[in-house]
Amino acid sequence: MTGPMLLFLIAAALLGQIGVGAGIAFWRYQRRRARFAAPAPVALRGAWAGWRQFRVVGRQYEDAAKSQCSFHLAPLDGKPLPPYKPGQFLTFRLTPDPAAPDRPLVRCYSLSDQPDPARWRITVKRVPAPAGRADLPPGVGSGYLHDWVQAGDVLDARAPAGGFWLDPDPATPAVLIAGGIGITPMLSMAAWALSHQPDRAVHLFYGVRDGAELAFGETLAAFARTHPAFHLHRAFSRPRPDDLPGRDFETEGRIDLALLKKSLPHGRHQFYICGPQTMLESLVPALLGWGVPAGDVHYEAFGPASLPTPQAEVAGALAEVHFARSGRVLAWDGRAANLLDFAETHGIATESGCRAGSCGACETRLVSGEVAYTHPPDHDIAPGHCLLCLAKPVTALELEA
Ligand SMILES: Cc1cc2nc3c(=O)[nH]c(=O)nc-3n(C[C@H](O)[C@H](O)[C@H](O)COP(=O)(O)OP(=O)(O)OC[C@H]3O[C@@H](n4cnc5c(N)ncnc54)[C@H](O)[C@@H]3O)c2cc1C
Ligand code: FES
Repeated sequence: MTGPMLLFLIAAALLGQIGVGAGIAFWRYQRRRARFAAPAPVALRGAWAGWRQFRVVGRQYEDAAKSQCSFHLAPLDGKPLPPYKPGQFLTFRLTPDPAAPDRPLVRCYSLSDQPDPARWRITVKRVPAPAGRADLPPGVGSGYLHDWVQAGDVLDARAPAGGFWLDPDPATPAVLIAGGIGITPMLSMAAWALSHQPDRAVHLFYGVRDGAELAFGETLAAFARTHPAFHLHRAFSRPRPDDLPGRDFETEGRIDLALLKKSLPHGRHQFYICGPQTMLESLVPALLGWGVPAGDVHYEAFGPASLPTPQAEVAGALAEVHFARSGRVLAWDGRAANLLDFAETHGIATESGCRAGSCGACETRLVSGEVAYTHPPDHDIAPGHCLLCLAKPVTALELEA
């Protein structure tokens, strides 16, 4: 073998070794990258993806008027339930019309007790037709749950969600303000705080019309009897003759800033408000005006209520919107409140639930284009998707719906 030939063979062997080494290193790098770049598994949040089946293992009314009914739910798969943040809600897929199982109704209900790995609880208020509108049908989802769903039935629910939850820092006293059925997330927060942070001051202001409408009366009275750090303020706007001040309620009238100022000790508090839109519209600006930092005022409206603080005015661009699945191309003229209303007005079938950016039911793949949101959504939107209920087009769009 000649010298140049030997040199060539040595160089080839070296290059081969370098190539194999580089290949292995690249393969290892790709494996590591794939591990870290994989979408965050749902298990990281201790929850599940999609729908999970729950058996109704009990139900009972919580108020004398029998308008608020609790449903106790146990997972059909028998596996332990993950923890959730007190204040979060579940999204349900209900099928009130057995003839149309493919057109379910999506509704959100707050978890009304502290997390328990065996069973959860929601509490649903029956929603009548609006006052003076007997021509309109009463609430479909709440009516179905009240009238048809019994122990033994199975309901589909998404994992707990929502950004309205109790700050776990025990150093800051919590002021929970509930109007009507807005008591549900507050009860979850209060029950959790009393079990896990018994020294933390918790002030619950609960406004209802009268004693017949007060839910969880016994539970709340027991909290007040057994937890010195729990302060209960029941405000009845129109007490019945047999509702006794001091025994059944503390204040006659509505919850307002004057009552909060009178009842709360000095110092920093975290405020949590859940109730009708009128309550949010009066209390949130009043608290901010009193000097409470915006970061200490948390609120949730049950439904598509517009939020009381000024929202960015998002007009939306005049643009074409292509709904790929339904094969429709429509001109956005800026009149619809959001893409969900726009789709529904034009007869395009889309799923929806809270209509407030919380549940994710209206999440749709954004094939191309850009949207802007009327306010920041609570729901974590998957990359390349958008929430129709809060979005308006910024450019021409192609949506998967
Ligand atoms: C995050 C979140 C948490 C929630 N938590 C709870 C909870 O813990 N407990 C609870 O009870 N609720 C809760 N809700 C509210 C709940 O999701 C439902 O919105 C509520 O039960 C009403 O639903 P429904 O199907 O009964 O009423 P819908 O059928 O949606 O009707 C709502 C109202 O519209 C009226 N209506 C019907 N047709 C028309 C029409 N053509 N024009 C005008 N009005 C009409 C109905 O009469 C009724 O008054 C929550 C909502 C959200 C977003
Ligand atoms: S309908 Fe709930 S996020 Fe849009």
